[in-house]
Amino acid sequence: MLKRIFKIIGITIGVVVVIAIGIYVKAYLNTENRRNKIFEVSPQQLTIHADSAILEHGKRLVTTKGCNDCHGTDMGGKVFIDDPAIGLLIGTNLTKGKGGLPPDYNINDWVRALKHGLRRDGKPLLFMPSQEYTFLTEQDMGAIIAYCAQLPNVDREFPQHKLGPVGRILTDLDKFPLFPAEKIDHSRMLAKEIKPEVSIEFGKYLSVACEGCHKKTMKGGEAVAPGFPIVADISPTGNAARWTTDQFIQTLRTGITPENKHLKPQEMPWTMTKAYTDVELKALHLYLKSL
Ligand code: HEC
Ligand code: HEC
Repeated sequence: MLKRIFKIIGITIGVVVVIAIGIYVKAYLNTENRRNKIFEVSPQQLTIHADSAILEHGKRLVTTKGCNDCHGTDMGGKVFIDDPAIGLLIGTNLTKGKGGLPPDYNINDWVRALKHGLRRDGKPLLFMPSQEYTFLTEQDMGAIIAYCAQLPNVDREFPQHKLGPVGRILTDLDKFPLFPAEKIDHSRMLAKEIKPEVSIEFGKYLSVACEGCHKKTMKGGEAVAPGFPIVADISPTGNAARWTTDQFIQTLRTGITPENKHLKPQEMPWTMTKAYTDVELKALHLYLKSL
């Protein structure tokens, strides 16, 4: 009797192990395949101007678009995910120092990365949120490139990225945005510029930065990764719809809601929205209310 029970347990464990290995092997092959795919694109030609007002604008955008969160406050790169299950992901050193971009990294290369999510050889950049930056205007993308191209050198070297089993499986299930290049319409041309004013149009333009978590509908929903909270509904059906514009601004500047809930910056990036101007936050609020 005991022998039979052990046999059944043994077979069950064996089957589970075989299935787990099967799922992993499938995810491994799928992610390696996609990682090595070459996208043929011809980056849109941008002319970069760099006067002091443009550099100042670019510097602000690097904060408000979240570049600092992954590439470091000095843009010299940083490890931003280090988890044996998910992987080791590093925001590249974007200066020309040791461990940084090659000396001949040019404007086309910047556009290929920001607008297309691709590295020089045409393979997809991992986890770099170009599916959002592809909607920047020429003016904003130009200012970001102008600012980044003149950063003082930072010498900081990193190991290679590593992909963990859970990271690969979630990517295979389309639950982890490892290859943003796949989600981009590569033939779309950038809009020239947008007027920074309290308008629904400008609010919509800014809301691209919220879509990754709150979704296009702004209704949020499932957590962005295991261990993260449910993403709040910030559309007119959500709790935040009851707030005044001042309360909305206050929340996105301090991370504390009118209900006295403290938002963690690594879950809801208010350290990024803190740097938004009044006009930007008012436009965002107007857009959210219009949905
Ligand atoms: C969510 C994290 C994240 C944010 C936010 C982010 N990046 Fe990245 N970025 C990465 C990662 C990770 C890589 C490296 C990808 C790789 O090597 O596969 C990368 C790569 C790049 C590269 C390509 C370097 C190369 O090897 O060709 C450029 C350029 C770049 N980022 C610029 C920016 C700029 C400018 C911003 C803000 C507008 C930004 N990134 C925001 C994560 C991020
Ligand atoms: C990286 C994911 C992420 C991004 C990007 C993001 N949010 Fe959030 N946001 C969250 C999560 C998760 C919560 C819920 C946090 C909690 O419950 O502690 C939240 C909560 C909020 C809340 C509070 C809602 C409430 O009822 O308490 C507001 C307001 C908000 N986000 C606005 C925005 C806006 C506006 C943007 C874009 C500029 C944005 N968020 C971008 C993840 C994100």
